[in-house]
Amino acid sequence: MNFTLELVRQLAGSDQDLREQWRERWKRVKLQQRQLAGQRKSLESRRGASRDLRRDLLDATPEPLSAAQREAERIIQAAQAEAESIIESARIRADEMTESASQMLLNATERGTMPAAAARLLLREHSRIVLVGPPGSGKGTQSPFLSKLLEIPVVNVGQMFRTNISARTKLGKRAYDFMHRGELIPDNLMLEMLADTLRSTDTGHGFLLDGMPRNLAQAELVEDLLTSTSGGIDAVLNFDVGRDEVFRRLVGRRICKNDSSHVAHIMYAAPLKYGTCDVCGGPLYLRDDDTRKVIGLRLEVWKSQSEPVVKKYGAEGRLVTISGIGTVPSVTERAVTALNAYFG
Ligand code: AP5
Ligand code: MG
Repeated sequence: MNFTLELVRQLAGSDQDLREQWRERWKRVKLQQRQLAGQRKSLESRRGASRDLRRDLLDATPEPLSAAQREAERIIQAAQAEAESIIESARIRADEMTESASQMLLNATERGTMPAAAARLLLREHSRIVLVGPPGSGKGTQSPFLSKLLEIPVVNVGQMFRTNISARTKLGKRAYDFMHRGELIPDNLMLEMLADTLRSTDTGHGFLLDGMPRNLAQAELVEDLLTSTSGGIDAVLNFDVGRDEVFRRLVGRRICKNDSSHVAHIMYAAPLKYGTCDVCGGPLYLRDDDTRKVIGLRLEVWKSQSEPVVKKYGAEGRLVTISGIGTVPSVTERAVTALNAYFG
């Protein structure tokens, strides 16, 4: 400062006006310097504040965010648990309804108050009925109920072969490859098995033949065999179910290792205990031929070889077609009503 004033004095000399001008200019410079310093200070303090704020925010961030995350996770978990419990109770409820409806139907039979249609069918001397329909249409599911209502045995040739395959019999070994590939077992083997089964079954009041004949040649062979042993076929009950439903049913089907007539479904008829048969407690498994690829092949076989058989029975006036869609008891009821109407 002193140095600057001295410089002003020397520059301006004794000129009072010039001195005054320099002094004014110097004051402005000082003022500007103060203002700049002030601005710098406030900038510094703002920077500091923002640094502090950032630090504060960074320090503060983990706490509220993780608390929010924890809360969100808690809500998601609660919602998932709630959804699972709703699905589980809906499944249990559906099982109970199916079970109780089936039970009502069976109880009604036992008490002698069965539906009038079934009662009239029972009055018939015999009911020789063939069950047809694409794989998975419910033939095996319906046959025990119809058997109980109509008091006639079920003859299931496919099942007979499965029993033979499990027991590793000669016949089972010969049939295995065909079944595994989704192809039809040769007609002579089928007929041999059918003749054997018929010999050991009381078919005096009729029978429910599940899944045979499946081609036109078998239709003729079966007709001949039945006519010579237990009389001809009275009616052919055809379960109508679409392709998508067939896939849904078969990929979810599980059958019992102890008895392949014990059928479950992972969604439609889920066992009470996972992987365990409700009927006998045996282990449940997926049939070898219930894979998507083999189901597709079986459907092709059905279309090319078995549908002509259905058409043939239709043309002969022996076909009773019903929808196989709906609950198991409702399909049973539909079948009994349709058969009753058919027999008149
Ligand atoms: P076979 O054992 O007769 O099989 P399929 O004809 O292919 O029929 P499926 O047993 O698969 O179906 P399904 O109609 O009985 O249905 P299900 O009631 O189980 O034959 C197997 C193989 O043996 C053949 O591929 C062939 O190699 C050989 N074979 C047999 N007969 C032959 C012949 N005549 N000639 C030559 N070869 C022969 O139901 C399926 C699933 O759906 C189950 O899980 C069930 O719980 C569920 N379900 C049933 N009804 C309902 C419903 N109403 N609502 C919801 N789910 C339902
Ligand atoms: Mg079956």
